[in-house]
Amino acid sequence: RWLLCFPPPAKYGGRHTVTLIPGDGIGPELANHVRELFRFCCVPVDFEVVNVDSGLDSEDDINNAIMAIRRNRVALKGNIETNHNLPPSYKSRNNLLRTSLDLYANVMHCQSLPGVRTRHRNVDILIVRENTEGEYSSLEHENVPGVVECLKIITRTKSLRIADYAFRTARENGRRRVTAVHKANIMSLGDGLFLQSCQEVASGYPEISFDSMIVDNTTMQLVSRPQQFDVMVLPNLYGNVVSNVCAGLVGGPGLVPGANYGENYAVFETGTRNTGKSIANRNVANPTAMLLASCQLLDHLRLRGFAHMIRRAVLSTVTETRLHTADLGGQGSTLEVLQSIRNAIESTGPRTLNT
Ligand code: NAI
Repeated sequence: RWLLCFPPPAKYGGRHTVTLIPGDGIGPELANHVRELFRFCCVPVDFEVVNVDSGLDSEDDINNAIMAIRRNRVALKGNIETNHNLPPSYKSRNNLLRTSLDLYANVMHCQSLPGVRTRHRNVDILIVRENTEGEYSSLEHENVPGVVECLKIITRTKSLRIADYAFRTARENGRRRVTAVHKANIMSLGDGLFLQSCQEVASGYPEISFDSMIVDNTTMQLVSRPQQFDVMVLPNLYGNVVSNVCAGLVGGPGLVPGANYGENYAVFETGTRNTGKSIANRNVANPTAMLLASCQLLDHLRLRGFAHMIRRAVLSTVTETRLHTADLGGQGSTLEVLQSIRNAIESTGPRTLNT
């Protein structure tokens, strides 16, 4: 059995230290809003801020961030820009962080929210994505000019590990079905191994039904009848594509949080991991996804009372159409959304909680 990611215990006085990586684009402003809201709610969390400069050639910054997460075991993170024109030796800082800390499970819950108008209603999908191998193995080379090999790595150990994580998550959340997404008709060895590993793990969870679907059909089914899906388990790249489709189905990148878990560390961020560079510092970004990610962080630290208090206020603000930010078709500003969240907290609950 794989170990669960246990949260670090509180420090003297019941306080927690959490690494905060503001990242690029809208990351720093959203990180500040989380800090201010935590202060307003008297959340016993101290952030250790680590800046990562995406423009630097050296990996010192990201290594410092990784070291800080090893120390605190939990982090809240904005996305770090990746310049696609740099040589292949330059590794995505985000990817480096995930693989160095072996954050093998990316979990995203895409659920229709009251107040957000979308084409489909009643979507409630839990996506479990393998986060460390597959197409993200950074193994590319040009054999001869004009011929590139880009390796996708699928291993039995990591496939069994993510499948087990998906079934365990399904069981813990009272879910009934897990769907493995693959392309084993074409990649019979690689995706075949992933599928076979999922089938093997499924036999240990008789109360949860298991099925599989080819990735192209999956995306078609998602945009036409998404309600049919419960829990999905996917290799890395299909997980990325499918989770972005699902986020789009329930309202887009501003709404959905994402969590990355390993055996020892947990990192919380927005689900679709966009930097939102073009809307940075304009007071127009939707802060919901980042705030909900901070609630998942509080759940992880067992500060459930605070998580509940903030989540309830964030979700009640989302139902107010007049406060919707531009991504949801409104004219509300980030600061107006945050003010409404503070008002909701003040009107419904105590400012301090012991849990
Ligand atoms: P983007 O940052 O351009 O975002 C896509 C769209 O969503 C934009 O229209 C943006 O304005 C909007 N958006 C995102 N967050 C929003 C929010 N909170 N409120 C309102 N609107 C919001 O995304 P793109 O082009 O995919 O990525 C930009 C950068 O992020 C690139 O450097 C890319 O490499 C990096 N990236 C890294 C990922 C990783 O985890 N390694 C994953 C995705 C992107």
